[in-house]
Amino acid sequence: MTDDSVSSASGGGRNRFVYVTAALAALNGLLFGFDTGVISGAFLYIKDTFTMSPLAQGIVVSGALAGAAFGAALGGHLADRWGRRRLILVSAVVFFVGSLVMAIAPTVEVLVVGRLIDGVAIGFASIVGPLYLSEIAPPKIRGSLVSLNQLAVTVGILSSYFVNYAFADAGQWRWMLGTGMVPALILGAGMVFMPESPRWLVEHGREGQARDVLSRTRTDDQIRAELDEIQETIEQEDGSIRDLLEPWMRPALVVGVGLAVLQQVTGINTVIYYAPTILESTGFESSASILATVGIGVVNVVMTIVAVLLIDRTGRRPLLSVGLVGMTLTLFGLGAAFYLPGLSGLVGWIATGSLMLYVAFFAIGLGPVFWLLISEVYPLKVRGTAMGVVTVFNWFANLAVSLTFPIMVGAITKAGTFWVYAILSAVALAFTYVFVPETKGRSLEAIESDLRDSMLGRQDADAPSDVAWGDDD
Ligand code: GLC
Repeated sequence: MTDDSVSSASGGGRNRFVYVTAALAALNGLLFGFDTGVISGAFLYIKDTFTMSPLAQGIVVSGALAGAAFGAALGGHLADRWGRRRLILVSAVVFFVGSLVMAIAPTVEVLVVGRLIDGVAIGFASIVGPLYLSEIAPPKIRGSLVSLNQLAVTVGILSSYFVNYAFADAGQWRWMLGTGMVPALILGAGMVFMPESPRWLVEHGREGQARDVLSRTRTDDQIRAELDEIQETIEQEDGSIRDLLEPWMRPALVVGVGLAVLQQVTGINTVIYYAPTILESTGFESSASILATVGIGVVNVVMTIVAVLLIDRTGRRPLLSVGLVGMTLTLFGLGAAFYLPGLSGLVGWIATGSLMLYVAFFAIGLGPVFWLLISEVYPLKVRGTAMGVVTVFNWFANLAVSLTFPIMVGAITKAGTFWVYAILSAVALAFTYVFVPETKGRSLEAIESDLRDSMLGRQDADAPSDVAWGDDD
């Protein structure tokens, strides 16, 4: 990160601007993480306040995931129409309203409405965070900057575990859920002062403003080159949603949808949402389970920091591959811990160790790399919409796994369930090998023209491409 365009641009001030913008935009990710994690603890006490049928319980827990799928579907389109910045502002307001409604809900019906509203905000945030960051970032540090969003998601999850712990004694679920209002307020107030994405501005004929934004992070030469590049890609496109179905878009869609589903069906959120329950079943006390869960949350944050530091040096494919090999092995180990009867006394410890290693391997690869790649591989004209489509798959897969986990455990035991996730991790590894391109250090426009060229068979007409689409390097 030392010899890159940012440091040479003029150092300090420009770097600071990028990082302040990134930190603020990453609050989106924090809210995404907090609001998905907080229910695990809050739910234990909500059950004491309201009498709920099993169906109502399911809806309270997973209602936010369904809301998020809807928010993602809508949010992609809105990001292209309204702009990235305005959608972040709107998502901050929706987060605030959702948290408020949940915190004061007099009935379970109102609570569900609050969860759905909150879910829509989570859906918006899951798209617009990575999108905005990728378009603000200078190419050389784009991987790190966009991955800050995933880092914020993991910090959000961890802080939700702490908040749950803090309010647990008094059973104060209203405070647990209401705490989300604080980051929402900061995000909303802060975004008022942040700029729109330069790419979206050019796309909407506001080149002057785009130049101003770029001038805060780039030198004059870099600005000229970047504006030319953006302009060029815009001119090449007819810019309709139908673009998404064009044959040349297919490899990018396959990568996005494939990774979206694989990121979830390899089981991460069974750990994030159910870890205390899994650990309690091994004979751990409640308090030990909660503490071990906090440990898992810490591992998630720490390894995501490692990914943020490495991603622009090693590239995306190596991190993804190492992560998936590790996930496959640790999931097999986890299954074995539950399967081998002779280990019974040790199961809790082996399970905790395997869960931590599994989360570590997720955090270094599939966690951040999925969100990064989908912010890189789509053409500008349809970037928001395409990310929306892909993210909807991610949320539905999340919903499916969260709902089926208890059923699968009942049907094929914990060992069988984790082995299924292990096999799917191996599938994800093969998928990465065949389909995932390396995008390290390339401008978004160069990635786009590589995609176009490789599909239209014009590869040798231009300079050799660095991004291998559908090739295995
Ligand atoms: C990623 C996943 C999300 C998961 C989180 C865990 O952001 O998309 O579903 O909860 O990682 O760190």
